[in-house]
Amino acid sequence: MIATNLKIRDGVLEFAGYSTPALAKKYGTPLYLMDEQRIRDNCRMYQTAMNEFFGEHALTLYASKAASFKRIYEIVGSEGLGIDVVSSGEIHTAVKACFPMEKAFFHGNNKTDADIAFAMESGVGYFVVDNVEELYAIEHIAERKGIVQRCLLRVTPGIDPHTYDAVATGKVDSKFGVAIGTGQAEEFYNYAAALPHLQLEGLHCHVGSMVFDEDVYERAAQIMLEFIALLHQKYGFETKILDLGGGYGVRYRESEGVVDIPYRISALADFMKDLAAKLEVPFPAVMLEPGRSIVADAGLTMYTVGSVKRIKGYKNYVSVDGGMTDNPRYALYKSNYTVFAPERMEAPPTLHCDVVGRCCESDDIIQPDVWLPELRRGDLLAVATTGAYNYAMASHYNRIPNASIIMLSPKGTSIAVKRETLDQMIKNDV
Ligand code: LLP
Repeated sequence: MIATNLKIRDGVLEFAGYSTPALAKKYGTPLYLMDEQRIRDNCRMYQTAMNEFFGEHALTLYASKAASFKRIYEIVGSEGLGIDVVSSGEIHTAVKACFPMEKAFFHGNNKTDADIAFAMESGVGYFVVDNVEELYAIEHIAERKGIVQRCLLRVTPGIDPHTYDAVATGKVDSKFGVAIGTGQAEEFYNYAAALPHLQLEGLHCHVGSMVFDEDVYERAAQIMLEFIALLHQKYGFETKILDLGGGYGVRYRESEGVVDIPYRISALADFMKDLAAKLEVPFPAVMLEPGRSIVADAGLTMYTVGSVKRIKGYKNYVSVDGGMTDNPRYALYKSNYTVFAPERMEAPPTLHCDVVGRCCESDDIIQPDVWLPELRRGDLLAVATTGAYNYAMASHYNRIPNASIIMLSPKGTSIAVKRETLDQMIKNDV
């Protein structure tokens, strides 16, 4: 099976030890299921490796854009992780979940003045400053509030991580951060160092998402450490924190590779310690910001089939009761997914079809070219590895309410996010 939390028992798909058809019957579809233990295991896998190879000051920040709702912040908070937040909405959700906000890092390439003030009032520990205008906005608001705000500067190392364009962010021409290669990152440092209400703690970079290439983080770390050495030699600046962003890829289909994350972290740590010694720079506290690899394989989506359309001589479509409103990733990136018929896992896969959603758009496809057993209206389908960037990117297109999220744990099942009602959807219409 594609993930170890998926099992077949008596021909039925089990997820996190629960029968998926029984959960669909109990809670209705479309339905997101999330495996709490898997989220915890992924958090521990990261934090154990970070501490073992980078030392006690290293910290894993969960990039909460991957899946943001109160229960997630409670889980990652109880595992001792920090978080990456990118909006007032994510900050508000984390605060309501009683997350210790001093471990929150506020990202984003366009924080409004209102966001900046709200983040400070919420006690966000660190701002990751994206650009010069933002730097001065933070300084002014911190001055007005009479505080000194801890910050990192986001810089771009100029690395192409060989992933899809929508998620490659570390290149020189990225909309995020300030480029090292053009000399502008050094200017950015000089502006920041002169501001009395900013306390500059270090640097941040993020090369991209769905990264599988072996040496991407080493290449980024090399450029970052050389920049750290330049700031140290030229200005005597000590970089206390080096945040290398997120991005490790996950497996969506059996045919894809798996990244051995603890091994990659150990190789990265060896490389960085050697280089830092050669460059004679004090070794910073290293942070990584995984999103996808914390929650992707903890998610599974359940749907009910509405129709099986066989266009003679052409193709077959299986329509489900969700679609791009709960998972826009195929529509956006042509992303791969594994689809199961969870009630008949051992039946022969004789139906070749596109699994499509219910939205009025031809690209509303969950996954094309899938082989499934014969299906009819009322049968269930399950889509694996949907924990990251599915609920987080859900929309109301065609005025379809958001699906609910059920958290599965060895202790039982519980609703983490209620199914949205039609009235909730129109509550702001006047
Ligand atoms: N840190 C920063 C600054 C980021 O921009 C991101 C992702 C992460 C960390 C987490 O990266 P991860 O470990 O999840 O790869 N919607 C796209 C993904 C966009 C990623 C944006 N930034 C998708 O569905 O594939």
